[in-house]
Amino acid sequence: MLNRNDKCWCGSGLKYKRCHLNFDEKLTKLAEQGYIVPSRDIIKTPEQIEGIRKSAEINNSLLDLIGEKIKEGMSTEEINSLTNEFTTSHGAIPADLNYEGFPKSLCTSVNNEVCHGIPSKDVILKDGDIINVDVTTIYNGYYSDASRMFEIGNVSKEAKRLVDVTKESLYKGIESIKPWNSTLGDIAAAVQEHAEKNGYSVVREFGGHGVGLDIHEDPFVSHVGERGTGMILVPGMMFTIEPMINAGTHQIFIDEKNGWTVFTKDGSLSAQWEHTLLVTEDGVEIISK
Ligand code: MF3
Ligand code: CO
Ligand code: CO
Repeated sequence: MLNRNDKCWCGSGLKYKRCHLNFDEKLTKLAEQGYIVPSRDIIKTPEQIEGIRKSAEINNSLLDLIGEKIKEGMSTEEINSLTNEFTTSHGAIPADLNYEGFPKSLCTSVNNEVCHGIPSKDVILKDGDIINVDVTTIYNGYYSDASRMFEIGNVSKEAKRLVDVTKESLYKGIESIKPWNSTLGDIAAAVQEHAEKNGYSVVREFGGHGVGLDIHEDPFVSHVGERGTGMILVPGMMFTIEPMINAGTHQIFIDEKNGWTVFTKDGSLSAQWEHTLLVTEDGVEIISK
C-alpha cells in the first residue's frame, strides 16, 4: 500500500496524494459497484505515453507516405520495402516482421481479404481495388498501431460506401468513449449498430487491443456487444479500435496455405480502419491514425 506522501506508482515523481490517489479511490469504488475495472498494468504512465506518441509519429508519417505512393500497378511487396526503408531509417522497427512467424513488415489486405494479408510481388494493385494497409511501429520499445483504407483508381460506388461506413463506424466507437462513464461494450455497440444499420456485418473473431508496451495487450476490444458491459474506460488506458466490416456475411476463413490471411467466407468485400487511442481525463485522444 502506498502512503499519501509516497511517490506515485506512475513514475510522475509527484506525491501519491497529488497524483493517482484519487484515481485509485475512484476505481475501487467502481469495482465495489460491480464494474470491471482495469488493473494497474493497463494504465499507461506519462513517460510511457510520451514514448508511444513518438512511435506513433513515425507510424503516422509512414501511412502518409504510403498514401502518397500507392497506385495501380504497384505490388504489395513494394509497400513492404517502403515500410522497411522508412521505419529503419527513422531508427524504428516494423513490429509485424517475425511476429509469431509473420513473414513481412506490415499487413496489406485487398478486397475480400479481411486482415493479415501478406505483401507479395505477385499481388499487383489494379484499378478498382480497395486495400487496407496496417502498420505497427516499435520505437524505443514503444508500440503504435494504425491502418487505413486506400482506393486504387476508379472504385465502385459499393466499395466506396463500405470504406466510408467502416471509417464512420470507427468514429462512432471513438465518440462513445466517456472517461469514467462508458465501457468497452459501449464502443462495441456503437460500431456494430452503425455497420449493421448500413446493411453490413461485423467480424467477430478479431478485434482491437491494448497497445503501447507490446503489440497486443489487454483488454480485447470487441466490435460487437452490448452497451454497459465490459471494462470501464478510464484515463491512461490505451487501445486500438479497428473494426473489420464485411459487405456480406460476417463469417471468415483463414488461408490454409499461409496460416495468416483472413478472407470473407462468401467472397464479399471487407474494409477496416484502425486508430490507437488514449483515454484522457476529459475525453479521448487519437494517437496513431
Ligand atoms: N497490426 C495488426 C493489428 O492491428 C497486427 C498484425 S500482426 C501480424 O493488431 F502478424 F499479422 F502482422
Ligand atoms: Co491493432
Ligand atoms: Co494494426
